[in-house]
Amino acid sequence: MSLNTAFTASLESSVAQLKADGVYKRLNYLESPQSARVRMEGRGEVLILSSNNYLGLCDEPSVVEAGIDGLRRYGAGTGSVRFICGTFAVHRELEAVLARFVGTPAALSFVSCWNANEGLTASIVEEGDFVVSDALNHASIIDSVRLAKSITKCATGVYKHGDLDDLREKLVANKGARRRIIWTDGVFSMEGSIAKLPEILQLARDHDAIVVMDDSHSTGVLGATGRGTAEHFGVMGEVDVITSTLGKALGGAAGGFVAGSAAVCDMLTQRSRPQLFSNALPPTVAASAMASVQYLEAHPERVRTLRENSQYFRQRIIEAGFNPLPGETPIVPIIIGETAHAIRMSEMLLDEGIFVTGFGFPVVPQGTARLRCQISAAHTRDDLDHAVRAITNVARKVGLAT
Ligand SMILES: Cc1ncc(COP(=O)(O)O)c(C=O)c1O
Repeated sequence: MSLNTAFTASLESSVAQLKADGVYKRLNYLESPQSARVRMEGRGEVLILSSNNYLGLCDEPSVVEAGIDGLRRYGAGTGSVRFICGTFAVHRELEAVLARFVGTPAALSFVSCWNANEGLTASIVEEGDFVVSDALNHASIIDSVRLAKSITKCATGVYKHGDLDDLREKLVANKGARRRIIWTDGVFSMEGSIAKLPEILQLARDHDAIVVMDDSHSTGVLGATGRGTAEHFGVMGEVDVITSTLGKALGGAAGGFVAGSAAVCDMLTQRSRPQLFSNALPPTVAASAMASVQYLEAHPERVRTLRENSQYFRQRIIEAGFNPLPGETPIVPIIIGETAHAIRMSEMLLDEGIFVTGFGFPVVPQGTARLRCQISAAHTRDDLDHAVRAITNVARKVGLAT
């Protein structure tokens, strides 16, 4: 038996084309924990401006220690899915802490928010239901809705990004549906914009719909104490279902969760396919994520530092002549245009000791490739000044600034 060489050759040719088009993604290897600065293989110390480590908790000692303690107490992993024999006491503790944090009666953990989202839609809809999703929702939501449509034969639609009139029209057009679900991100990851949550909630009330919100870029980030988009708008307790990640502000390891009523979590325990057919969140990760939430509850000032750093960077980059997408989150996207330009600029920035990823098509629409700068509470003002200087230098070199 030999390997199928034609298959390998065809993949090699596709990858070569990506390289020729200047859109090939090269992996950079880090040799130290995520923090404001990291050691990168072959590069030495670089300043990170593209991590979701919003609160700087990835290397927070109490978070790391909790993971080690979890490892000692529960061993390496669950060895099973939740309902067979993969549920540890730490899962229940984490879920109680998460539910309290986001202000819902219950929560259920998953190995990733991708998994949490993926299994959710098909678990709560049936044929005759209607699911409507913001055009710029995360890929995991898009796939979740596609799966739900193919599994359950529910009807689906997409409303223009943030366009409440379009959302209303689609709800009205589907008023005969048994159940109507509105899916939105809390913060849109490529734009850094915030969902118009109060208006979406009002539309849901007017049209008897259910709001499901992915708060992955909002948990630990928005609201005075980091409880997310609902806290930001003063509507905690009003969103039917919240999903979020443990892989960004809350320690940055991995994992995700769904928070909502006990009935929602119970239904997901019964029905969500990633929950039923994939191992549970490793107990080490559950323990460190729980310590992250507890740290954040004790240190809400980290959220303030993140907000102040984000405002500072945004102001400095505007003063330097750039025109980032407007917003008030730590995601500050600088639109470059062509994918190859954005990727080239991010490589040149790495030569200046700044790690910021260029995003292009198909992650963002054609012609809107961008450098997505992400700010952390771990950054110092010197770090942020250094980043602005480097971006300005590189933009001059490629002819995008004077
Ligand atoms: C909005 C959103 N939802 C879900 C995810 C997936 O999160 P996880 O890494 O926990 O699977 C991401 C990660 O990029 C995200 O930005």
